[in-house]
Amino acid sequence: MLTKEQRDELVRAAQKVQNKAYTPYSKYNVGAALLTKSGKVYLGVNIENAAYPTTICAERVAVFKAVSEGEREFAGIAVVTRDGGSPCGSCRQVLAEFSLDAHVLIANEAGEVVMEGSVLDLLPGAFGPENLKASL
Ligand code: THU
Repeated sequence: MLTKEQRDELVRAAQKVQNKAYTPYSKYNVGAALLTKSGKVYLGVNIENAAYPTTICAERVAVFKAVSEGEREFAGIAVVTRDGGSPCGSCRQVLAEFSLDAHVLIANEAGEVVMEGSVLDLLPGAFGPENLKASL
């Protein structure tokens, strides 16, 4: 479980990075701050593209940055949008790959947390690495 300080710090970091989002098409800025179990914070924003489906969400940018630096265990993630919007299905699946128990904080622009729970709460019955054990 995260401490109150860790939760506040993550939400603040996600709020702060939100303005780095590249969103010329939707103007919907998303900021994410991902805390690894080793104590590092990786930030992410959504990055859109003129070829719309090529867009990537803030949560996945944060996870991919962390994983590409060797981090695979996550303690929590804060996601900030103007209206406290919820992570999409693809981001839930990517988070579930690594840490079903990670704490998720969804907040609005003012930093008010509108939803708090685990990755498992966001994606009950997730398909994951366990399902492929017999193939390995
Ligand atoms: N978006 C995210 O960054 N994360 C989500 O989980 C939901 C959607 C972005 C993608 C796109 O740039 C914008 O929000 C509108 O869909």
